[in-house]
Amino acid sequence: MKIYVINGPNLNMLGIREPDKYGKVGYAELLEMINKHCAENGIEAMLYQSNHEGDLVDKIQEAYFDSADGIVINPGAYTHTSIALLDALSAVKIPTVEVHISKVEEREDFRQVSYIRAACKKTITGHGVGGYIEAIDFLKEYCNES
Ligand code: DQA
Repeated sequence: MKIYVINGPNLNMLGIREPDKYGKVGYAELLEMINKHCAENGIEAMLYQSNHEGDLVDKIQEAYFDSADGIVINPGAYTHTSIALLDALSAVKIPTVEVHISKVEEREDFRQVSYIRAACKKTITGHGVGGYIEAIDFLKEYCNES
């Protein structure tokens, strides 16, 4: 089983950016956590982060051509603006989980819209970096069932 974990803008600043909202775990530590969890579960993980919308579209398309079984995506602020990411996820039809570290539903109005949600099997918010692990576990179960 192969899962792409895709992070959008400013998520490389985890641990530095607004720790009251996003916690103290740094991006490198998050990657370690994901790699360890995937290795323990026999999952091949492809980890990617970009601050650029088009690069995120390219990575979603790459997941298709690379026959990925699932995508975990935290598109950061592009969640609330990007029809291009919605279109990319709709095009590839790979089971996808949307993850947000913070509880976006309790934050500003402009964070209440998620363009990508329509193309996702599940959304996890407010569980900190643990949300990524939950998303991977969900995809593992989902793929084993289907
Ligand atoms: C975020 C929430 C977004 O609104 C914000 O722009 C981010 C991070 C989260 O993980 O909680 O960059 O996706």
